[in-house]
Formats: sequence, C-alpha cells, structure tokens
Amino acid sequence: MARVRNILITGGGTGIGLAIARTFADLGEAVTITGRREAPLRAAAHETGARALVCDHTDPAALTRLLADADLPDRIDVLVNNAGGNTDFGAAGGDDLAAYAEAFRANLDANLVSAAVTVKAFEPRLAGGGAVINIGSIAADQGAGSYGAAKAGLASWNVALAGVLGPRDITANVVSPGYIADTEFFGDHLTAERRAQLVAATAVRRPGTPADIAGTVAFLASPAARHVTGQVLNVNGGAYTTR
Ligand SMILES: NC(=O)c1ccc[n+]([C@@H]2O[C@H](COP(=O)([O-])OP(=O)(O)OC[C@H]3O[C@@H](n4cnc5c(N)ncnc54)[C@H](OP(=O)(O)O)[C@@H]3O)[C@@H](O)[C@H]2O)c1
Repeated sequence: MARVRNILITGGGTGIGLAIARTFADLGEAVTITGRREAPLRAAAHETGARALVCDHTDPAALTRLLADADLPDRIDVLVNNAGGNTDFGAAGGDDLAAYAEAFRANLDANLVSAAVTVKAFEPRLAGGGAVINIGSIAADQGAGSYGAAKAGLASWNVALAGVLGPRDITANVVSPGYIADTEFFGDHLTAERRAQLVAATAVRRPGTPADIAGTVAFLASPAARHVTGQVLNVNGGAYTTR
C-alpha cells in the first residue's frame, strides 16, 4: 500500500486552495493548509480534516515561526504555492510615484516573493519523489499590470527551481488558471459585463471551477507526471492557447 503523503497548501482556506485541499483529502493524503485569517482556515479544516496553521507567506518571520510549529510535518511530499491574488485592481493611481512603487511591490510580494521564500524555507523538508506546484495566472500572458508581471516572474523562477530540485527527484511546475468562479479573488471588482467577457473568451463558454484547477494539481503530484517539470500548464477553457 502506498504511504500517506504530506501535502502543504498555502492559502488553503478558500477558493482554489480549498478545492485542492478537498481533492488531496479525498485521496487519503495528510493535508496541511495555511492562510492569514483564522476563520476560513478553521472552516476548511473542519470540512476536509486538514491541519490548519496561520501564516502570512510574504513575511519571513511568520515562515520562521511556521517552521518551528510542532504540528508541521518534518517531510513535505507536495508543496502547493497557491497563496496570492491581485493586491491592486488599478487602485494605485495619481502621480504619487512612491504609492505606485509600493502598490507594484505588493503584488510582487503577494505572488512571487511569497512562493520563493516558502520554497526556500521548506527546501530541506521536501521529499524525493515529490512535487512543488505553483499557482500562476493567465494574467502572466494577457497582461494585468503588476499582478501579471508577478505571475510571469513566478513562471520564470519556476524554470530555475525545476533545475535545482530535479536532481532530488522533485518536480516543479506552474498551473496557470484562467477565470475561475467561486473564489474570493475578485472581491467586488468583477462586474457582470466583465464576467461575461471572461466567459465569452473561453472555447468552452464557461468559467473554470476551483475543482478544475485541483484536478490538474493532483495530476502533477501523481506518479503519472514524474517526467513533467519546469512547465506551465494552462487551465483556462481555451481562453489562452499555446501551440
Ligand atoms: N480566481 C481566479 O480567477 C484566478 C485566476 C488565476 C489565478 N488565480 C490564483 O489562484 C490562487 C488562489 O486564489 P483564489 O482564486 O482561490 O482566490 P482566494 O479565494 O482569494 O484565495 C486566496 C487564498 O490565499 C490566501 N492568501 C493570500 N495571501 C496570503 C498570504 N500572504 N499568506 C497566506 N495566505 C494568503 C487567502 O487567505 P487569507 O486572506 O486569509 O490569507 C485565500 O485563502 C492565487 O494565487 C490567485 O492569484 C486565481
């Protein structure tokens, strides 16, 4: 019988991260989820049976505290860097360069530095035969200011990561979602018109679901995907295609 794997999902309390937690829990794996807010984490842990630990992945001190937490497994088989989101839906305007720079950096921190520092923290605990899966975005290819730039940077960083972890038999990939409904991603920034545009841009004429992303993550963590590394897998209903 295959041994139970330890799965760590950052931002696992809501949306895509929660769906990934459900998927691995259903497979019988030992799931740990993190996030900044206790309430959604507690609810997600109650539903899935996951272990929930509070951590802000942009904060190195918080990561240091997480590493010292006795509830954290010593060995991580699958690390899913899912925490992130667009911290600036065009709010930082005006001519204030300092405010612009701060807002731009916030997206880099939330989506790129957070993943890099998390891998740095967990590198010694990553198990051979395992996988690192980073959640990117269609915005990396279709623009979205600092958010798209951060997700593009994530994909670039992942290429080097695959080279570093490969000799230890650990894969590193990016799953790049298109528009995914039923998440907290857009807050109140998604108008009905914009939503209709996003759906119309897909070949399949529907939004993605968190479960669509979770299925691809589970595949990348499976024995079937051991020769897939350093890649970006687009999961967007055909809204953006590659040859
Ligand atoms: N929904 C979409 O259409 C879409 C499309 C492309 C890519 N994505 C990407 O998918 C990933 C998941 O987002 P989602 O759509 O599921 O939205 P979501 O529901 O807002 O989920 C994001 C999760 O990450 C956590 N989080 C955010 N920053 C964090 C931090 N610094 N440290 C720890 N946890 C943090 C949030 O919880 P706390 O606030 O409690 O920390 C939340 O649970 C993100 O990387 C996002 O950029 C989403």
